[in-house]
Amino acid sequence: MPFYRNFLSHFHHTGAIAPSGPKLARHVVNSAGVSSDSHVLELGPGTGAFTRDLEKTLGPDGQYLGIEINADFHSHLQGKHPDMHFEQAPGQDFDFSAWVKEHGQFDIIVSGLPWAKFPESLQRAMLDNVIPHLKDNGTFVTFAYTGVHLLKPAKRFRHLLDDYFASVNRTRSVLLNFPPAFVFVANK
Ligand SMILES: C[S@@+](CC[C@H](N)C(=O)[O-])C[C@H]1O[C@@H](n2cnc3c(N)ncnc32)[C@H](O)[C@@H]1O
Repeated sequence: MPFYRNFLSHFHHTGAIAPSGPKLARHVVNSAGVSSDSHVLELGPGTGAFTRDLEKTLGPDGQYLGIEINADFHSHLQGKHPDMHFEQAPGQDFDFSAWVKEHGQFDIIVSGLPWAKFPESLQRAMLDNVIPHLKDNGTFVTFAYTGVHLLKPAKRFRHLLDDYFASVNRTRSVLLNFPPAFVFVANK
């Protein structure tokens, strides 16, 4: 199935009508402060909009784990990025203990998840499952569509970030993305 159709037919999970564009992808990876030796967790890589830039930025000492719930997207990612590690699972349920035992905690979490589509219980379950594996002083980034961030579930998620992180900042909007979006940069 073409990936735009997959985005639409799985709208309840993807929460988007199209993958993020290259300008937003670069902005997300730059805002996260990813460097060649970072240890990165990507939540909801989808068709790999951010993964491409992460792969370009991470060097031989970098480490990457991508967690994607959608089986079609998961096999597409594995084919496209054979040197990166992906698991097909819901991020809120994935057991990180074996990965963290072998690789250590994450420096950076890059989220492509549609938080504004999640009920509060899922927003909390996801954060409760992943944030303990982020290093102290580690960085969490996630994007929000400009305008959608004013809807109730999106505002609730923004407030939740204050409960989980020491600081939360918002970047400028990337207008050359469809739809325009900005990034929350949160530090533990
Ligand atoms: C808005 S799309 C973003 C995809 C990609 N990061 C981008 O920006 O184009 C959200 C992605 O999160 C995935 N997703 C949704 N719920 C998830 C969950 N509970 N666990 C893991 N992935 C999930 C979807 O399948 C989809 O690939």
